[in-house]
Amino acid sequence: MEHDGNRIPTAELRDLFPGCNLPGAGLTVAVSSLMSFPSNELPMLFSYEQLALAAAVLDCRPECLIEFGTGQGTGTLLLAANAPKGAEIHTVDLREECRGNYTSTILRGDSDIGSAFHASLWKNSIRQLLVRPDEPISSFAHLKNRIDFAFIDGDHAYHGVRSDTLIALELGKADATFLWHDFYDFPDYLGESREKRGVYPWLNELAATGQLSLFHISGTYLVAGRRNWGRPIPSRLRQPGDRPGPFGARIVRQGEA
Ligand SMILES: C[S@@+](CC[C@H](N)C(=O)[O-])C[C@H]1O[C@@H](n2cnc3c(N)ncnc32)[C@H](O)[C@@H]1O
Repeated sequence: MEHDGNRIPTAELRDLFPGCNLPGAGLTVAVSSLMSFPSNELPMLFSYEQLALAAAVLDCRPECLIEFGTGQGTGTLLLAANAPKGAEIHTVDLREECRGNYTSTILRGDSDIGSAFHASLWKNSIRQLLVRPDEPISSFAHLKNRIDFAFIDGDHAYHGVRSDTLIALELGKADATFLWHDFYDFPDYLGESREKRGVYPWLNELAATGQLSLFHISGTYLVAGRRNWGRPIPSRLRQPGDRPGPFGARIVRQGEA
């Protein structure tokens, strides 16, 4: 299947979130539950992506955050640990009766969504929401116009990531920051069904609307978006298959290094 051209330029983490680079900016935590992964079994967010997520939160200083896709909760824990004291973190995953093989794989045999933060120092700032797929927006009404930071990492099928994004846009304040994971631009991946491999086509479609200004974060599979960044962001536009990039044929992940 042919893919459309990429409209989402690549930028450096420090240019997108410069506040993370200041001396004493804050904390990032290494989530100890990730130590149970062997090097060839990839965690949901590899190390530099965890740093990028933490850096974005440190820079934005959000008071109210939402994550779509809790999984084991390592991302949630990073959000909570790096957000200002008193911040509210909402994290969304599927109700038990709606979970399939994908969730089981993510949980690695566990059934405890959010296990990484349940016994952590941050557990009281995190609120879990378990939903059905295609949960109506009305279920999130209490968060409308309250969200400063949204991390979208749930269903990666086209309709799923689109639906989570549209909900996040409804909930987000005018200056909210949005982050998506799993922006894969490998030509072989894009050659698979658009419905299944939804993040790249959906985010490119969103970029084309001009509603948000989107940047892929170099060295990661993350994309960051805001309605207005308020300044020019140095960036370069790559197309799927353009190589060599700074990370070779694929961005190097720990298991491939
Ligand atoms: C990639 S994992 C999330 C990883 C997590 N954000 C992290 O950083 O560790 C994706 C999760 O999204 C959940 N999910 C899938 N479809 C969903 C939906 N429609 N609504 C909410 N969560 C969903 C899955 O059950 C799974 O736990």
